Amino acid sequence: MFSRRNAAEGGPSDDRVRLSCFSDIDNFGTMAESIMATYRRLPVTFERGEGAWLWDTEGNRYLDALSGIAVCGLGHAHPAISAAICEQAGRLIHTSNLYGIVLQEKLGDDLVRLAGMDRVFFGNSGAEANEAAIKIARVHGHNKGIDTPHIVVMENSFHGRTLATLSATGNRKVHAGFEPLVTGFIRVPYGDAAALEAVARNTPNVTAVLVEPIQGEGGIRIPPKDYLNRVRTLCDNQGWLMMLDEIQTGMGRTGRFFAFQHHGIVPDVMTLAKALGNGIPVGACLAKGPAAEALGPGSHGSTFGGNPLACRAAATVVHTLEKQRLSERAAGLGDRLLKAFKQSLGDLAGVADIRGLGLMIGIELDRPCGELVGHALKEGLLINVTADKVVRLLPPLVLSDDQADQLVEGLSLLIRNFLD
Ligand SMILES: Cc1ncc(COP(=O)(O)O)c(C=O)c1O
Repeated sequence: MFSRRNAAEGGPSDDRVRLSCFSDIDNFGTMAESIMATYRRLPVTFERGEGAWLWDTEGNRYLDALSGIAVCGLGHAHPAISAAICEQAGRLIHTSNLYGIVLQEKLGDDLVRLAGMDRVFFGNSGAEANEAAIKIARVHGHNKGIDTPHIVVMENSFHGRTLATLSATGNRKVHAGFEPLVTGFIRVPYGDAAALEAVARNTPNVTAVLVEPIQGEGGIRIPPKDYLNRVRTLCDNQGWLMMLDEIQTGMGRTGRFFAFQHHGIVPDVMTLAKALGNGIPVGACLAKGPAAEALGPGSHGSTFGGNPLACRAAATVVHTLEKQRLSERAAGLGDRLLKAFKQSLGDLAGVADIRGLGLMIGIELDRPCGELVGHALKEGLLINVTADKVVRLLPPLVLSDDQADQLVEGLSLLIRNFLD
């Protein structure tokens, strides 16, 4: 459907030739003995990419509707990013946070300007960004005289794999085996402002709420329209920090630079990673007001965080997103995809819901559908299934209209065949 053996010419092609290239596609790939078995890998290895296309080691081409799970928002091998990384690598990769880092300050200025926030701490991943947020919430509590500060977190959420972030995560599978969990979290149903208001009435030691604007790993769950505004109001009334995990939703993906900008609010704390570096590992925790003053010298740090190479990559991502107005592109393309999927699949028994915002799209089926990932791979399409029944699409923001049409056509056929 999408893939094509084209190693010989070595370049992109528009031909849509079906090619079932794997004999062992129904089995999961194997990993070298030297690698800890934390992933069940698919039997494919990619060796190069361009925009929304990837090529495997056999020369087969794939349409990437996942972007490395919302990481390569600008697509693969974006010329501006590649050039910036190469130039920076030849100049200076790392010094230390013991010294001034001009590129870090420039990136920090850009991010606080775009978010309307005050300060940023740089780490290397989403989990680290959320660790910084959790530490800020605890310091905020202690500053207010609360000895055991608690953070309200959501059912069905995902915040990372470190001990504190997996404890904040609302998924028993992520906890399993790692008990005792970090304490200090209170869990409520996602999207339920009344449940949060009940916590405010009954629990005196809360200092913050940590919430995703849209739950990504949880199945592209979009909360009620007024939810984040109600959280903002409650946090203002209670003196709690509103902390948004925008690790998956940020950097233009939902049609705004940050998802909170759909709601006319500003959080006290926001975490970013994934698309911030388009594949170069970098995470950020932004803060505003008192939260921005919570961490002082010696209270937090990271050896690699905010080094010149990572910041050069991220600054180029930010510049490119702004210059090419890619948030607007994500909004328009997202509308087009959602409409097309609703048209092609909306009436199908077996399709429970089709939802999304910008280029964060979920197609929920009435049954577990993990095997669709392998079926799509066979046809040269990269997708993901999360929360058992939700086909998750996170294509790059540079997806062309033609690629979007191919995605709708190809995936609709796969889902129809699967449900038949
Ligand atoms: C919303 C959210 N928060 C945090 C994380 C953790 O990020 P990382 O894997 O970079 O630690 C993820 C990763 O999927 C995420 O989607």
